[in-house]
Amino acid sequence: MTATKSRTRPAPATSREIDAGTYRVVVAAGLRHEYARLIADAAPAHHYAIVSDVEVAPHYAEPLVLSLAAHGPVSIHVIPSGEAHKTRDTWARVTDGLLDAGCGRDTTVVALGGGVVGDLAGFVAATFMRGVPVVQCPTSLLAMIDASIGGKTGVDTAAGKNLVGAFHPPAAVLADVETIRTLSPAQRRAGLAEAFKHGVLADADYFARLEAQLPALLDAEPSATLEAVARSVEIKAEVVRADERENGRRKTLNLGHTLGHALEHVSGYALLHGEAVAIGMVLEARIAERLGLAEQGTAQRISEVLARAGLPVQRPAALSVDAIVDATRLDKKARQGRVEYSLPAGIGVMAAADSGWSLPVDDQLVHEVLA
Ligand SMILES: NC(=O)c1ccc[n+]([C@@H]2O[C@H](COP(=O)([O-])OP(=O)(O)OC[C@H]3O[C@@H](n4cnc5c(N)ncnc54)[C@H](O)[C@@H]3O)[C@@H](O)[C@H]2O)c1
Ligand SMILES: [Zn+2]
Repeated sequence: MTATKSRTRPAPATSREIDAGTYRVVVAAGLRHEYARLIADAAPAHHYAIVSDVEVAPHYAEPLVLSLAAHGPVSIHVIPSGEAHKTRDTWARVTDGLLDAGCGRDTTVVALGGGVVGDLAGFVAATFMRGVPVVQCPTSLLAMIDASIGGKTGVDTAAGKNLVGAFHPPAAVLADVETIRTLSPAQRRAGLAEAFKHGVLADADYFARLEAQLPALLDAEPSATLEAVARSVEIKAEVVRADERENGRRKTLNLGHTLGHALEHVSGYALLHGEAVAIGMVLEARIAERLGLAEQGTAQRISEVLARAGLPVQRPAALSVDAIVDATRLDKKARQGRVEYSLPAGIGVMAAADSGWSLPVDDQLVHEVLA
């Protein structure tokens, strides 16, 4: 009976592979049970150094240590969790940990965690012995669809986020969508904001599928998560491949981020990155409408779906408009005093293809939209 029933339904895809240029991205439910073999295949080494954080390690580190031990000596380096620890100090402590563990040139670093672990472990790998391979095993939605793809690694300084780092593409990215189940609902929502961003910047059908699958995605349902992660990875990898060093199309990935970063900064990082990006996307779509670049209704459609996902879509009243506008000037994207924005032309298409995918916007208009 059960067998007959399941035969009438199309079998859900349980695994997807995306070619990201120099490396492959595997997305699957339960992939953690294959991590060791896949890591040893993608980046065979004498020593495997796992970097994780205090929240992720208790869930997933032990089986990985045990299974990797079949391939060589393994060490594990657990850092405190959170953006506050994505620093040069943590980089130094992890690097010293690798040296103490006897790691040499023949080491593969394995990043097991969210984007903080991925960026930090990637930067350790980029600099250790002038560069050793890193395999990214992202465990947060944001790390799966965004941080682990593209090869940017780095740490924060007192002057700002991600100001010290290196381009160091991974040897492979291994995303087990089942790990999202232990991620907090707030962090899931924040990751979804970046998935919707991918829909807005490249694929209206994907945006609509995310909309339709929202309850399953919020619930961390593996097959819905797998489809979303796989499509987001394809979009990000394609954009990055077209523009490895961020002179052109890669700028479209900054949609929602000029205002998003400013909001995040002014909130003292009380807003999660994805929450700030959600507000930023809605406001930047409104700017695009005011400039006549986007179809009317674009901002409204984005706002409605993000609100349904439980994300904020308006400037929190406590954050001053002046402070936010000032903070946009701190962004790396500001050039000669004019703040550049990558703006949507509608759902699935970006504006300013002819002018390098970004445009300067007057502070006055930004003020009006924020008010
Ligand atoms: N390199 C890039 O291209 C790129 C792109 C986007 C973002 N980033 C960076 O990524 C970082 C944000 O990533 P994030 O949102 O994953 O933050 P994060 O790494 O801080 O993870 C968020 C929280 O979830 C916990 N966590 C992660 N996976 C878990 C799991 N499966 N179960 C339980 N808890 C889990 C973490 O311990 C942390 O407390 C930022 O530092 C940002 O700059 C980098
Ligand atoms: Zn982002």
